[in-house]
Amino acid sequence: MGQEKKENLFLNALQGQARGRIPFWFMRQAGRYLPEYREIRKTKGGFLDMAYDARAAAEITVQPVRRFGMDAAIIFSDILVIPDGLGQPVRFEEGHGPKLAPLENLSNFSFLKPELARRVFDHTAQVITETRNMLNREGLGYTAIIGFAGAPWTLACYMVEGGGSKDFHKARLAAYQDPAGFTRLIDLLTTVTADYLIAQGKAGAQTLQLFDSWAGVLEAHQFHRWVIHPAKTIIARVKAQCPDIPIIGFPKGAGSQYLAYARDTGVHAVSIDYHVPTSWAARSLQPLMPVQGNLDPLALLAGEDALKLAFEKIVADLAGGAFIFNLGHGIHKDTPVEHVERLVQMITEHQR
Ligand code: CP3
Repeated sequence: MGQEKKENLFLNALQGQARGRIPFWFMRQAGRYLPEYREIRKTKGGFLDMAYDARAAAEITVQPVRRFGMDAAIIFSDILVIPDGLGQPVRFEEGHGPKLAPLENLSNFSFLKPELARRVFDHTAQVITETRNMLNREGLGYTAIIGFAGAPWTLACYMVEGGGSKDFHKARLAAYQDPAGFTRLIDLLTTVTADYLIAQGKAGAQTLQLFDSWAGVLEAHQFHRWVIHPAKTIIARVKAQCPDIPIIGFPKGAGSQYLAYARDTGVHAVSIDYHVPTSWAARSLQPLMPVQGNLDPLALLAGEDALKLAFEKIVADLAGGAFIFNLGHGIHKDTPVEHVERLVQMITEHQR
């Protein structure tokens, strides 16, 4: 295992390699299912207090890697630090998710100041540096660091809605009713997101993931306009500044539009959600690029036969090509640690 790990199988898979142990990491691998995370959360005021404390954020980033030996560590933060940094403050309420004062008027959001977001960039750069040092000190230096950002559409969803929502009705309606205003908002977020990813790449992130968690609520043409188009702009800008850093796109819920997303945005790899049939992904997406995914977090929560069955189906379809094992969305907070251990054992023992 030691030798395999020195070369980092996750980064190799992103280059198209399909041999050896299957690389893995899990969305929301740092978080509430871990007792050591809950311990830190008790001593800090709230979620953003932890995220904005570089030492704490680095420690939380490394926690799951210490336990499970993931091939990659995703920086502990949130996609909503960008609206927060721009001047639309975000609160995380226990059990209620994020809350923001909704953007009511798309013709006037001059209070959003891209230059203010720079302090978030600097902070995340510091977390990346701390994380790298901590991993190296603990003999986990082979672990790749993943930086990330929310895609403009998903950020706009939370900014317009003022929080979570079932189908982001207000944001979708605003995009139809005031396309000029909505375009200005998306353009602003496109610029800031590209700059943010570049800052993370320059600070030492070895892979970048773009989360478009609400891509799936859009009508087909709107999907091209608000998901594909901005992603393409962001990725071209990041590639120009950080040509050696692979970018993973996660347009959650995109369905058959995954194909256009993979073909047209310039991403190096796609992360598939748990709705995507793995046989289809193997046939249609994997010939184009490496695929990451897509265990249903509830199969992991359930454990036992449900987990084993779901695991086997995924690897039977996808482990023959360039593949990174992950979940189809974030780990559920009630997931027993033993189920994660069991899954890691299945992944690391799988022979291909
Ligand atoms: O994956 C990781 O371990 C890294 C950290 C990370 C968090 N959020 C930590 C977090 C990442 C990559 C995110 C991304 C994120 N945040 C997304 C995109 C991925 C996805 O889940 O679709 C979205 C949409 C958000 C917005 C967000 N943040 C919501 C809707 C919530 C509330 C829901 C919940 O699970 O509580 C958050 C809070 C949040 N972000 C927590 C964590 C660990 C929970 C905070 C707590 O401890 O109370």
